[in-house]
Amino acid sequence: MTEQALQTLKDGYTFDGETLDLGVALDGEDPSKETPISIPLSMLNRHGLVAGATGTGKTVTLQVLAEQLSRAGVPVFASDIKGDLSGIGAAAVESDKLRKRLDAAGQDWQPKSNPTEFYTLGDSGLGTPLRATVTSFGPILLSKVLELNDTQESVLSLVFHYADQAGLALLDLSDLKAVLNFLTSDEGKADLEGIGGASKATVGVILRKISELAAQGGDVFFGEPEFDTADLLRTDDNGAGIVSVLELQKLSQSPALFSTFLMWLLADLFQDLPEVGDPDKPSLVFFFDEAHLLFAGASKAFLQSVTQTVRLIRSKGVGIFFVTQTPKDVPEDVLAQLGSRIQHQLRAHTPNDAKALKATVQTFPKSDYDLEELLTSLGIGEAVVTVMDPDGAPTPVAPTRMRAPESKMGPMSEDEIKAAVAASPQHEKYGTAIDNESAREILAKRLEGGSEAHAEEQRSAPADAPADGQDRGGSADKIDFPEESGDSRKKSAKKDDENMFTQVVKSSAFKQFTRTAAREIARGIFGTSRRRR
Ligand SMILES: Nc1ncnc2c1ncn2[C@@H]1O[C@H](COP(=O)(O)OP(=O)(O)OP(=O)(O)O)[C@@H](O)[C@H]1O
Ligand SMILES: [Mg+2]
Repeated sequence: MTEQALQTLKDGYTFDGETLDLGVALDGEDPSKETPISIPLSMLNRHGLVAGATGTGKTVTLQVLAEQLSRAGVPVFASDIKGDLSGIGAAAVESDKLRKRLDAAGQDWQPKSNPTEFYTLGDSGLGTPLRATVTSFGPILLSKVLELNDTQESVLSLVFHYADQAGLALLDLSDLKAVLNFLTSDEGKADLEGIGGASKATVGVILRKISELAAQGGDVFFGEPEFDTADLLRTDDNGAGIVSVLELQKLSQSPALFSTFLMWLLADLFQDLPEVGDPDKPSLVFFFDEAHLLFAGASKAFLQSVTQTVRLIRSKGVGIFFVTQTPKDVPEDVLAQLGSRIQHQLRAHTPNDAKALKATVQTFPKSDYDLEELLTSLGIGEAVVTVMDPDGAPTPVAPTRMRAPESKMGPMSEDEIKAAVAASPQHEKYGTAIDNESAREILAKRLEGGSEAHAEEQRSAPADAPADGQDRGGSADKIDFPEESGDSRKKSAKKDDENMFTQVVKSSAFKQFTRTAAREIARGIFGTSRRRR
């Protein structure tokens, strides 16, 4: 590299304010100690992409970013697909190989652990179980998990709307099944007709898909206690950001489920966080590993909601880094919003590889490098970097020898993880599943009890269920549903007041729910519901 090219990088990566070190520039194959490559902390909420072929250093890059964020007081959330990120909770161990790397790059390095919280989806692993209720998850995300087509998705949206209105708490999958079964029963026939022309056959298909999901173990995380996403925003007593690691390797059977769950976390955070504009440092940085799983086979409504979330969550101080093999895995509308790129080595073995490589090169700002050549010749733990500078312009393209983490590369031992989890107050809060009364029990009672008593109650009790639409749209955070489902939702207003289900709704068994649940349900982005605090 010419002196001038190095100087361009030096200038391009000198920022006012706090930064995270990414590494040092590569001068040919050699690290240039005097040319640090970094990213401004204030630009982390402009999102980013970490990409590259397998084994090229994506996870370690994530770790390098996460540990520095934690030290800067920024909480981090990361999914751990292969179980090799847990080491972030332990100090690194020096080896000869590592020492050589550190010396070559002139990296100032001290082994250090980070305050780490281990989570798992449902009770599938070692971490503290994370759960969400079906009600809160909402119809769009659930449709993605169930791989429903657009028609089925809009029917499911109507069923949620119906349940919200009726104050039927959908806590786990069996609740949703109970409602769907009710709607296809003789007793529920009138209600099914009342909710906007959903056919019995479509409801049947949805029921079958739910059973399939449950059979694959996908039901483990629907239920209570529901995870409060505000817990992701904590710092420890020393002011370091807590690194929340979500272990997912045991759920590789149901990839749609975990990627969708991550989206739920984001959507839920979005609803609760205040607007902060462009802060000096982010309030949370979220690493979305294996991001291609999120987008594969996604419906239009789902993609629209992802794009909206990514766009809008920035002003709430949340940064999102997608981690995947090639930029092609991420839809263009989302990609366009990722301000920073850390692109590890790409291979060009097959025609498909070559195509992906060309597409990747296209996503970089102009430079003097032959990027195709450069991207295929990078070593492990090296990357081509461009970040967004504080003026919102891309920094010069920089071939970079990435930093080595100060925490441990690779997994922490099972015993260490178990000990950390046992000692965590989070485990006390979420460790044990609870089974509150919900739609399933209520409907079962109703069907057993006959209609007389409830009809009587209905006559004597004032109606407690809110009028349609009354509780929607009141929130400043609310984002409109994609049009299709929005329109069909309106149709559901035409409810048959005199049908049997309405009688159930108005019975005393429902009073509590109509007060505590239905009135407060205002579905926002993705149709996830607002937290009931
Ligand atoms: N910045 C780095 N410093 C030191 N070693 C590194 C660095 N990046 C990668 N390595 C080495 O390369 C190995 C593979 O890296 P990593 O696990 O991050 O790859 P990956 O791209 O996430 O792979 P996969 O796609 O299989 O998940 C690491 O275990 C480590 O030994
Ligand atoms: Mg990895």
